[in-house]
Amino acid sequence: MVVSRLAGAVRHAGESVETLRVLDLGAGNGIVSDELKKFGVARLVGLDIIESAREAALRDRPAGYDEYFVADMTNPDAETSSALEEWRLDALTCVAALGFDDIPAAAFVTAMETIAEDGWLAFNIKTDFLQKADKGGFAALVKALLDHDLVELHLLERYRHRLSIDGEWLEYFVLVAKKRGPLPPDIISRFAGSAASQ
Ligand SMILES: C[S@@+](CC[C@H](N)C(=O)[O-])C[C@H]1O[C@@H](n2cnc3c(N)ncnc32)[C@H](O)[C@@H]1O
Repeated sequence: MVVSRLAGAVRHAGESVETLRVLDLGAGNGIVSDELKKFGVARLVGLDIIESAREAALRDRPAGYDEYFVADMTNPDAETSSALEEWRLDALTCVAALGFDDIPAAAFVTAMETIAEDGWLAFNIKTDFLQKADKGGFAALVKALLDHDLVELHLLERYRHRLSIDGEWLEYFVLVAKKRGPLPPDIISRFAGSAASQ
């Protein structure tokens, strides 16, 4: 869903999916790489905080990622940051990984900084996390990015992600946007600052 919506938006904007250099944040065992490879992206880098996720991805999908980093994207070590920079990434995907108990807004902002100034962003998130009352910071982050014209919104779609164990549908948004430039320092310190100073 996220990858097909990203590909659709990129093509609609007259750009090429095949030249994208993608960072897959919270890559886990690499399911998302199957989709991204289907669309023929140029380069694909995975990143996860858990070493066993990397091991599983390399075992199950040895050709999935061009490189797979293990790091906490809330506060990545200098070596990982400079290695990521060398990949000259221009798209960020984050699938089924944002929100409570998973990837915090601070890590997403840091990942946003690693991609090009006009890079693409594509993620999905439970609808609750984009409500005003959300304490995780994603609603405030998305609002700030749009209010300050820091991204151009290409797609926002609500859909039924999957059934919960209670048999209820879990509703998600998929969002695709394009950065309009570097993130300003006030946004970085507001959303990633406390993590960076830890
Ligand atoms: C629910 S899994 C999603 C995996 C994959 N994207 C998928 O769709 O199957 C979320 C992943 O985010 C990773 N994660 C959580 N916090 C993170 C962080 N601060 N930095 C990098 N990865 C993180 C977790 O280790 C986990 O593998």
